[in-house]
Amino acid sequence: MTPMTRVEIRQSTAADLAAISDLALAAFGIPEGAEIVGLIDALLRDATARPVLSLVATIDGVVVGHVLFTRVRLEPAGTDVAAALLAPLAVHPDHQSRGIGGQLVAAGLRHLADTGVGLVFVLGHPGYYPRFGFSAAGMRGLSAPYPIPEKNVDAWMVLELRAGAIPNACSRVVCADALADPKYWRE
Ligand SMILES: CC(C)(COP(=O)(O)OP(=O)(O)OC[C@H]1O[C@@H](n2cnc3c(N)ncnc32)[C@H](O)[C@@H]1OP(=O)(O)O)[C@@H](O)C(=O)NCCC(=O)NCCS
Repeated sequence: MTPMTRVEIRQSTAADLAAISDLALAAFGIPEGAEIVGLIDALLRDATARPVLSLVATIDGVVVGHVLFTRVRLEPAGTDVAAALLAPLAVHPDHQSRGIGGQLVAAGLRHLADTGVGLVFVLGHPGYYPRFGFSAAGMRGLSAPYPIPEKNVDAWMVLELRAGAIPNACSRVVCADALADPKYWRE
């Protein structure tokens, strides 16, 4: 990527699906990439995941990055905060460490804040997501859909997009049906 290279971030369309799959395979490798491709496909069809925000990063029209945000809700019910989960995020290995992942996350968070989302969760690298404002969710009384193994507990993070959005009572996050499998929650 030269200094003149222009990265564009836009919402994905059905025409991007093949490129998003190729990208996930390249970024996550084998066999994890194939599982992620299946997950993205399932999430995009999953009514319980909506509203979905699917963003691609392109360079000269070629998809080099992708991020997906899907709806989650909190249990017990009664906390009416709109919440989303960031998963997965991928940048093509040829274009990593150039800020593209960061641009995707930042653009997604801006869009979610503009549409009234108060909380965003992620199960990801604790060395990466705090730069966007994410911090450990468990110690704030917000548990993951499935118990996170103790050694990875820091990977379960939350970002409060709207001050005061974190409920006072302990809550559990309920994810979209396509993500409701313990295999996605080990990190
Ligand atoms: C993680 C990923 C999305 C980051 O995208 P990117 O465009 O390379 O990220 P950015 O350029 O915005 O940020 C680069 C930073 O991410 C850090 N980073 C990249 N991969 C990381 C990892 N696995 N763990 C912790 N930090 C990581 C880099 O060290 C770099 O940190 P620095 O800015 O302090 O030097 C990308 O590396 C990727 O697709 N990896 C493979 C798939 C994956 O692991 N996805 C995340 C699932 S939670």
